[in-house]
Amino acid sequence: MQNLNSEVRSAAIINGVIQLTWTLGQVSALGTYWLRDNCPCSLCRHPGNGQKLYEIVDLPRELSPREAFLAENQTLKVVWSDGHRSAYTQDWLIAHNLCEQARAARRPQVQLWRGEIAGNLPVGDWPAVVTDPVAELAWLERFSVLGFGLLKNVPTEPGTVADVGDRLGFVRVTNYGRLFDVKSVPNPTNLAYTAVGLGVHSDNPYRHPSPGVQLLHCLESEAPGGDTLLVDGFAAAEILRQEDTVAFELLTTVPMTFHYADAQTDLFAQQTLISVDHVGAVTGVHFNNRSADWLDAPAEVTEDWYAAYIQFGRILKRPELELVFRLEPGQCLVMQNDRTLHGRTAFDPNLGRRHLQGCYIDRDAMESRRTVLRRSITLPNHLSSHPALSEPARAMSVAA
Ligand code: OGA
Ligand code: ZN
Ligand code: ZN
Repeated sequence: MQNLNSEVRSAAIINGVIQLTWTLGQVSALGTYWLRDNCPCSLCRHPGNGQKLYEIVDLPRELSPREAFLAENQTLKVVWSDGHRSAYTQDWLIAHNLCEQARAARRPQVQLWRGEIAGNLPVGDWPAVVTDPVAELAWLERFSVLGFGLLKNVPTEPGTVADVGDRLGFVRVTNYGRLFDVKSVPNPTNLAYTAVGLGVHSDNPYRHPSPGVQLLHCLESEAPGGDTLLVDGFAAAEILRQEDTVAFELLTTVPMTFHYADAQTDLFAQQTLISVDHVGAVTGVHFNNRSADWLDAPAEVTEDWYAAYIQFGRILKRPELELVFRLEPGQCLVMQNDRTLHGRTAFDPNLGRRHLQGCYIDRDAMESRRTVLRRSITLPNHLSSHPALSEPARAMSVAA
């Protein structure tokens, strides 16, 4: 396996394909169209914004490298069969190293967690997060790796949750409005607006796309009960995969129809309870007993699917997976809605008030902000949630 610290030592064309030899001895081939499509020259890309100036069909039908050699600073220079010239810096070649280990290291980092994370919650101080980019990045890093974060010292002024949402990203307006009040009301349109306990769930899986991030901001929590429950859906999905691959396969391939309806609204979306990407890594969990409507699948599939669903539901209830804490006034919980499942214990609205406000934002704006902050800030080790990447990111470690 190629070492990630290797640098380019030489380049040659072997059987019409460019091959790089790295300082630690490995050899890697660079696909012809792949390399040409990454040409950074000002004919190929706009010098100001880096966007491509040609269409893929504009590339020659027959294309091969005529010359390839390393120039100053180990820059790879290529003269192509159509006369076009390209230059690829050593930094670019390293950053785009295609060996398995390098590709794994570029994948999103995920740290699975269980209930013991209570001793080391990803907490940020909101006034600091807003004003200090180092505090903001440190909080965003942990949010990204763990799938949730807590903000404290968020003013308990009603409506603030939408300001927080607009600072972290862009509030997504839905049929519930720009924000929604979570409190016990007469004639509730959603069980969330009662005092009953809610098993852990993802919000609004009946939406296309379902919300990427949910914020829940506590304004009042005097009522006995109403503790917050969180479970890492990715950790639960990995347990299911380990314990029953067939069940895992069913929940990643056969979609549930989720549904929500009230007088003005009728929302349906079909999605699998667990989503995986092209390498089989878990990328999403959507679990919501209240809005799981019906399974549109052949009868011979449904019984096995239900067995898998029940099995996954039982895993989600394992006490060791569950993080239980009390959301206090001034705290705002921010969750990747397709990973960190949330719920609450029942509360007694006759013995005190409980009032949360929530809103949804998309995930991309938070990821973008993290990437932009990373351009100029290197976090000190004690603030970094993943100091040095010594193994492929998807060999997921379990956070205590
Ligand atoms: C919700 C919800 C949890 C709570 O409104 O979506 O899950 O603690 N609320 O009230
Ligand atoms: Zn070019
Ligand atoms: Zn919810």
